[in-house]
Amino acid sequence: MSHLSSSVTRHLRAPNSEPVQAAPAEPPPDHVLVMKVIPQPADANSNGDIFGGWVMAQVDMAGAVLPARYAQGRMATVAVNQFIFKQPVRIGDILSFYAKMERIGRTSLTVNVGVFAERFNNQGHYIKVTEATLTYVAIDDQGRPRPVPITKI
Ligand SMILES: CC(C)(COP(=O)(O)OP(=O)(O)OC[C@H]1O[C@@H](n2cnc3c(N)ncnc32)[C@H](O)[C@@H]1OP(=O)(O)O)[C@@H](O)C(=O)NCCC(=O)NCCS
Repeated sequence: MSHLSSSVTRHLRAPNSEPVQAAPAEPPPDHVLVMKVIPQPADANSNGDIFGGWVMAQVDMAGAVLPARYAQGRMATVAVNQFIFKQPVRIGDILSFYAKMERIGRTSLTVNVGVFAERFNNQGHYIKVTEATLTYVAIDDQGRPRPVPITKI
């Protein structure tokens, strides 16, 4: 942060390391682990927590993993149907993304994603931080919707 002027840095807070009081949660057994990632200081907002847009980008990537098995090619995110930030995410948390297919349409694939954090100082204990539902569309080389080739796995 030394390259930033003092007029900028005085508005920034140190990374937030206060413990979060949240009920423990187990990842749902009908969901599959599709991704893990540890947010870094560069992903934090000016409150010292992780920027919501960064979490959304990770969920978009994690959410694509199961639909990709059905689409077998190019896809585009057409909708974020629901997105709930239940708890803040902190620098150094280990985030686990669990997904479950909700619906396979003619050209679209809808998936539920639950994000669970193991706090950096409380490993092995999960807290649910985010839940989202997203829809992807299988697209052809011209970017037009194409039928999903595989409807059962
Ligand atoms: C994705 C895209 C190709 C779809 O094209 P379209 O002409 O809207 O397609 P359609 O209206 O035929 O819909 C295609 C499918 O998406 C579904 N869909 C469209 N809008 C939706 C919405 N808001 N929510 C949920 N599903 C939706 C349709 O129900 C349809 O599903 P089905 O074939 O399984 O019944 C087009 O909208 C697009 O290119 N969007 C931009 C994608 C993008 O850039 N994503 C990244 C954003 S940062």
